[in-house]
Amino acid sequence: MQIRMLQADEQPPMKLLLLADPSEKLVQEYLKRGQCFVAEAEETIIGEYVLLPTRPETVEIVNIAVDESCQGKGIGKQLVNHAIQQAKLLGFKTIEIGTGNSGVGQLALYQKCGFRMTGIDRDFFIRHYSEEIFENGIQVVDMVRLSQDI
Ligand code: ACO
Ligand code: ACO
Repeated sequence: MQIRMLQADEQPPMKLLLLADPSEKLVQEYLKRGQCFVAEAEETIIGEYVLLPTRPETVEIVNIAVDESCQGKGIGKQLVNHAIQQAKLLGFKTIEIGTGNSGVGQLALYQKCGFRMTGIDRDFFIRHYSEEIFENGIQVVDMVRLSQDI
């Protein structure tokens, strides 16, 4: 498996992008303002993340996903660690990430990769999404924000 930058003339992996964020509008916005990286095995894209500069010296992983058939094999961890290395190479000083209150696995993964919680954006998913979202039997309402200095 290799992780590489998505080229400008390639189709973005929409199925994966929508797995991480059901809002097509937000996904298009991330793709326009950020850079998508893909994990590829045998010429098939099986994972992706999008790195988005947000403030001076700060960058955010705004969308990360691994194909359902390939989850739980360490690819997500490789993608997060690749994003951290990429952010360092580009000269950013802080990397951020956010996930829903229901994201038990995501919170485990991000903390295992060195992120620490910085705050809760209450009702984020109520304000930004028109439909109710459930994950792990929990309604997604609040955004948990995490960051690390790099
Ligand atoms: N408790 C403890 N640890 C857990 C749990 C849990 N409930 N769930 C996962 N983990 C750990 C795993 O054990 C593993 O750590 P380890 O290597 O030390 O064992 C780590 O978290 C993640 O494992 P990976 O196999 O690397 O993760 P995977 O390849 O499955 O990718 C991802 C994770 C990207 C979240 C994937 O499940 C996915 O695509 N989910 C759907 C989309 C999604 O929710 N994306 C994130 C939205 S938030 C955002 O985009 C910023
Ligand atoms: N991902 C998603 N859901 C989970 C996960 C997970 N990783 N782990 C637990 N859950 C869910 C279960 O699925 C279940 O929900 P469900 O009924 O909808 O399926 C629910 O959480 C809890 O299940 P129970 O079987 O009722 O919990 P249990 O009897 O195991 O008690 C407790 C939980 C008290 C935390 C127990 O594990 C324990 O004693 N742990 C050690 C002591 C401890 O940590 N106490 C809490 C310290 S904080 C404090 O005291 C305030």
